[in-house]
Amino acid sequence: MANEINILWASMSGTAEDVAKNFETKASDMGFQTNLLELNDVSMNDLEKMQNVAIITSTTGVGDLPTNGDDFWLDLEKSDKNFSKVNYSVCALGDRSHEIFCGAGNKVNKKLIELGANQIIEIQECDGSDEGSDEWGNKFLNKIKS
Ligand SMILES: Cc1cc2nc3c(=O)[nH]c(=O)nc-3n(C[C@H](O)[C@H](O)[C@H](O)COP(=O)(O)O)c2cc1C
Repeated sequence: MANEINILWASMSGTAEDVAKNFETKASDMGFQTNLLELNDVSMNDLEKMQNVAIITSTTGVGDLPTNGDDFWLDLEKSDKNFSKVNYSVCALGDRSHEIFCGAGNKVNKKLIELGANQIIEIQECDGSDEGSDEWGNKFLNKIKS
């Protein structure tokens, strides 16, 4: 459904979760139907059927996905599905003091590109907190509205 946005998130200590919830509010205020899900609750079969997907994830460990996103990553990493009908963008949270900056969001993004998904706006990397996520959200929503 063109009017539906799937907002998929993973977070360790709540920052990415807040970004996802704020994005959901913004999207529903603009008239979109929203579907807010933890990444681990999304199968590859589900993802294949989604038209508009906003992925918001922080990074933990050494470039790893949060625990509520790591099963999703294990599935995505070994997937060979064709996601060419999926319009998406990633908002990646991290901290430049770590060696693999925004590693989780970047590896999800890279794999989705490999599987043919349509990146509608560039990945947003947020350093230290959520800075840049609001602008990313506005850009994403305006893009799919048009
Ligand atoms: C144990 C731990 C490991 C982290 N590892 C990374 C990392 O490898 N790369 C990175 O860019 N940020 C890393 N970060 C920073 C977090 O991704 C960042 O603080 C983020 O805003 C946290 O969001 P969250 O509250 O949604 O989990 C790490 C933070 C912690 C506490």
